[in-house]
Amino acid sequence: MDPDARNEWTLATHEGVIELRAPGDAPGRGLRADWRELRLPGGASALRGQPLGRAIGSAARTAIDATAGLGFDAFAMAAMGLRVEAVERNEQVLALLKQAHAWATQEPRLAEIAARITVHAGDASAVLAAAEPVDVVLLDPMFPAKRKPDAKPPKAMQALAAVVGADQDSEALLPLALRVARQRVVVKRPVHASPLGGLKPDWAIHGKVLRLDVLRGQAAG
Ligand SMILES: C[S@@+](CC[C@H](N)C(=O)[O-])C[C@H]1O[C@@H](n2cnc3c(N)ncnc32)[C@H](O)[C@@H]1O
Repeated sequence: MDPDARNEWTLATHEGVIELRAPGDAPGRGLRADWRELRLPGGASALRGQPLGRAIGSAARTAIDATAGLGFDAFAMAAMGLRVEAVERNEQVLALLKQAHAWATQEPRLAEIAARITVHAGDASAVLAAAEPVDVVLLDPMFPAKRKPDAKPPKAMQALAAVVGADQDSEALLPLALRVARQRVVVKRPVHASPLGGLKPDWAIHGKVLRLDVLRGQAAG
């Protein structure tokens, strides 16, 4: 990503819909997050069998998604039945996240799932430092982009890379997350990346592109 391209993306409203526009995007062509477009074949039990579901474990009932982004992982965990606190600090991303949450709340098919999600504006380090223990903490910070990507990344990834950049401070979240999690901390990483903070996970789920590192939580209970 050309560093000069950073922050040229702008938040705008078109026909009542908030969107994040890349330079040159026409109104209505910007990025929006819409959980209503997600298909959930097989529902919660199918999701529980997928990598994120296996990583959080079948006993998980509460979670903090400390790096919520556009909320797709938070939504997936809520669809598995968890109560989720979704924390996002970037104001542009937060606007899209809140809109996605509001739309899902108004959609009868998704309202029950959306009601399990609470969106928090702010930095996860403060939220985690003050939080009561939860079963699972998910960390999915931005990772520095490859210099020459093999293919153009999807628009959501381009937008996050442009408005958020690399989350250089993400290592500091790990000890806080370990203290708050009763069961597990799950860290999403590119498949060949070193573990966050150099801390070896207890186990990991390897995909083609991503890896889910799982560490045992340290909170009592
Ligand atoms: C890769 S995205 C997360 C994508 C998300 N898992 C999803 O399903 O859409 C990382 C997000 O975490 C946010 N973030 C990173 N560090 C944070 C922190 N300390 N507190 C709050 N948000 C943070 C960034 O602003 C960014 O939006």
